[in-house]
Amino acid sequence: MTSDRKKLRSQQWFAQPNYESLMNRAATRAEGFTPEVFENRPVIGICNSWSELTHCNVHLRTVAEAVKRGVWAAGGFPLEFPTISLGEFYMKPTTMLFRNLMAMDVEESIRANPLDGVVLLCGCDKTTPAQLMGAASADIPAIMVPGGPMLNGRWSGGPIGTGTDTRRLYEQFRAGRITDEQLCEIEGCLLRSSGHCNVMGTASTMTSLAEALGMTLPGCANIPGPDSRRLAMAEASGRRVVDAVWEDLRPSRILTRRAFDNAIAADMALGGSTNAVVHLIAIAGRLGIELTLQDFDRISRRVPFLVNVKPSGQYLMEDFYYAGGLPAVMKEILPILDGEALTISGRTLAEDLAGVACHNRDVIRAADNPLYPEGGTVALTGNLAPDGAVLKQTAASPHLLQHRGKAYVFENYRQMCAEIDDDALPVDASTVLVMKNCGPLGAPGFPEWGHIPMPRVLLKQNVNDMVRISDARMSGTSFGTVALHLAPESAVGGPLAVVRTGDEISLDVPARRLELCLPAAELERRLAAFEPAPPHYNRGYGKLFLDHVTQANLGCDFDFLRAVPAAVSD
Ligand code: FES
Repeated sequence: MTSDRKKLRSQQWFAQPNYESLMNRAATRAEGFTPEVFENRPVIGICNSWSELTHCNVHLRTVAEAVKRGVWAAGGFPLEFPTISLGEFYMKPTTMLFRNLMAMDVEESIRANPLDGVVLLCGCDKTTPAQLMGAASADIPAIMVPGGPMLNGRWSGGPIGTGTDTRRLYEQFRAGRITDEQLCEIEGCLLRSSGHCNVMGTASTMTSLAEALGMTLPGCANIPGPDSRRLAMAEASGRRVVDAVWEDLRPSRILTRRAFDNAIAADMALGGSTNAVVHLIAIAGRLGIELTLQDFDRISRRVPFLVNVKPSGQYLMEDFYYAGGLPAVMKEILPILDGEALTISGRTLAEDLAGVACHNRDVIRAADNPLYPEGGTVALTGNLAPDGAVLKQTAASPHLLQHRGKAYVFENYRQMCAEIDDDALPVDASTVLVMKNCGPLGAPGFPEWGHIPMPRVLLKQNVNDMVRISDARMSGTSFGTVALHLAPESAVGGPLAVVRTGDEISLDVPARRLELCLPAAELERRLAAFEPAPPHYNRGYGKLFLDHVTQANLGCDFDFLRAVPAAVSD
């Protein structure tokens, strides 16, 4: 450790012999602080995504208080600040429309203020990648403290996982097997505590991957939201970030190519959300690291799926934490990870994992006894998705992984909603449901509409899965044989745009192929006749989004943000 005050960025604000420093100190003392806070203490921003509009993150102000204890104890000076927050339930049309806006808010709030380090408090799906993207671009020492998953829910004697069981039970309701009264009971016991969704959805996946990347202290991500250890971990993280400032341990030293390969491997072992593909590509892009869908597929083929948590397994996140959580999974696949990757702990990944044990082999399988020999997410390609698509094979039906069937096409989400409960819908179990105009520009904002509900006519026949294809995303809590993120999307003239009801589609997951079974000349003829719809926005943030968002295979970041990060001025 050094006490050289010239190394602290914040001293530019507080320790200059000029009028601006005088006023900056006066402004700080106006909040009731003593002059001692200016005495060579690292100023630690606590970037809080707390909001009453984001129920998953509503306990983060308590977490922030624990962080502050740690920062003070280590000789730092904590200052909490808000950014926009992204709550999956309320935000319309989709939080994904605003992920990049939050990332810009995080980056510019860090860059513009007298901060030497930052603690990132996240939870609900997009808040984690948005904070990582912003912090990566700002590139001052940063540590992440997720709020943790909520406790297990229970209904009618059985466990109930947010999203996954909700959808399953709601389909039972649509089929007339669950009453209004039962649905009301379910509503009351679904979201049992503070914290984010309690399955391996996008929030659990992305917070786990933040840990796999090395951006949290080891063992941090999966502690349940209401658990007292969450606050103890927050305090420890506050202490740690102060030392990270003195060590100049910036995100660019942690978020290296080896860290991303490790995170992809962890994602595969977890059976993580398909959304992780988009988010990891976007975070890496902020550091000038080009991740591709082929990287995910290459690693997917080498890493076994080990984590028996919904939607791909049986258990919930609380069980996962008690079984050992992410560290136990990383330990299991350590031979195929790069153990030399540096983490925010100041140690290597291998050092962090020393002494880690698994406490329940039914929840976290051994590598030689996996739930599935390959990783959860696969990348598909073919004439229907020339730039790629993704599918979560561990949440799919095995009998549909190689399937050929006739398409039934919804031109957009609205049409799908209007028709899906029509008992005369002309579909059967072999039909391939296709939905267009759900991508980054087409929807707009790339919403989680890809888990097209099962047609009611098929639910009544006890058909619970079928092949579904779109250029949308899917909630990480969803399940089924669902191909997503088709790129280029239909709204910009990708081949999905020209699929017609009755065309044959072939899905071959083992071969990683997704094909529209048409002669090449006919496909070309249809594509040449494509005409784009008018844009959804002509002003404001929506226009900025439409003008600059990249396609799914490139992470959907704005083109002007995907670059080698500019260092924060010293
Ligand atoms: Fe926030 Fe699911 S709604 S993580």
